[in-house]
Amino acid sequence: MTIGLDDVVAAETSLSHVDGEAGRLIIAGHDLEELAGRVSFEDVTAMLWDGLIPDAASDPKALLSAARQRAYAHLAPLSPQLAGLTPVEGMRLLLASLPDAERDHAALAVGAAGVAAAMAVRGARGLAPVAPDSLLGHAADILRMMRGAPVSAEEARGLDTYLVTVIDHGLNASTFTARVVASTQAGILSSVVAGLCALKGPLHGGAPGPVLDMLDAIGSIDHAEAWLDDAIARGERLMGFGHRIYKVRDPRADVLMAAVGRLKGKSNRIAFAEAVEATALKVLERRKPGRRLDTNVEFYTAILLDALGVPREGFTPLFAAGRSAGWVAHAIEQTRTGRIIRPQSRYVGAWPAEAA
Ligand code: CMC
Repeated sequence: MTIGLDDVVAAETSLSHVDGEAGRLIIAGHDLEELAGRVSFEDVTAMLWDGLIPDAASDPKALLSAARQRAYAHLAPLSPQLAGLTPVEGMRLLLASLPDAERDHAALAVGAAGVAAAMAVRGARGLAPVAPDSLLGHAADILRMMRGAPVSAEEARGLDTYLVTVIDHGLNASTFTARVVASTQAGILSSVVAGLCALKGPLHGGAPGPVLDMLDAIGSIDHAEAWLDDAIARGERLMGFGHRIYKVRDPRADVLMAAVGRLKGKSNRIAFAEAVEATALKVLERRKPGRRLDTNVEFYTAILLDALGVPREGFTPLFAAGRSAGWVAHAIEQTRTGRIIRPQSRYVGAWPAEAA
């Protein structure tokens, strides 16, 4: 028995494959590098949903645009309830308000995740929601709704690259959670809410905000080695490093690093982040010999989303907005097996006296 389910195969999927030794991520039959920054989030969503959701491939841009409009009509009245919640808590409240019985709930879940991410970031700051624009692509519209101002084509491409990069990733904790919920036939929207709840922890999708906190605390590269060394000595984990599956550099880190490089005028920030990354790898090698800890997706997520002007509390909601398309596909794939996921535990508690 494996505590933590390392190495346990709990599902068969045609959606994505993570090769942790080669540092390779395959999504819907394509290497990540063929998709991110080259194919839109809507089109990659259609590739994932092909064969699972009827007509997903015919006009995915229109499908998600209509879904954002429909989601906004549901969610906008809840905006006053967002004050006092963190954006990820606000997003959870908004998605949980959607009825499972809604029609076209696959597209609705992804449209709603984008709208809710933007609304929850604004709502946490006491700002009114911004309605979707049906003419924009999914990434451009999310960034515009979050910011309340137009976005450039370069910025839209940056966020689109990010959403594609995180769209699916094997049987990670949130996807597994979404599949467990789907396996009970609870419905797609419930699976997506459950996925978000699992994603928000700092060991999974909650890491990129703390990556930025770490870079701010380090402040200058002269302090990096001592700061990182002290953090590990205190038993802390360096955010943005290490992975259960990848034993080499996470390929998503490279894709996002390239996306940061395409944004103009950010070179000082990138140079600092790269220098901290190199120092952290050196410190990890020295402090944790043989553990094969390398850079994960969250490190460059933080740099990219910060460069796009997203506040750090909005990083995890945007991760969820991208991953929602994967959760939906996994939920349908799992539902089709018709089999509930129901593993076993080993009892290590007390036995009643008569059985001892
Ligand atoms: N900094 C310092 N030490 C680390 C780190 C880290 N980031 N990650 C793992 N270790 C150490 C850990 O302390 C342990 O050392 P020891 O054997 O001396 O106790 C050893 O490496 C093995 O760690 P583990 O706990 O067995 O690794 P895991 O597979 O259970 O954990 C992880 C994977 C991602 C939770 C962990 O690496 C971590 O906490 N990283 C920091 C948080 C982070 O960046 N999270 C985002 C993950 S990527 C996004 C996603 O796909 O979800």
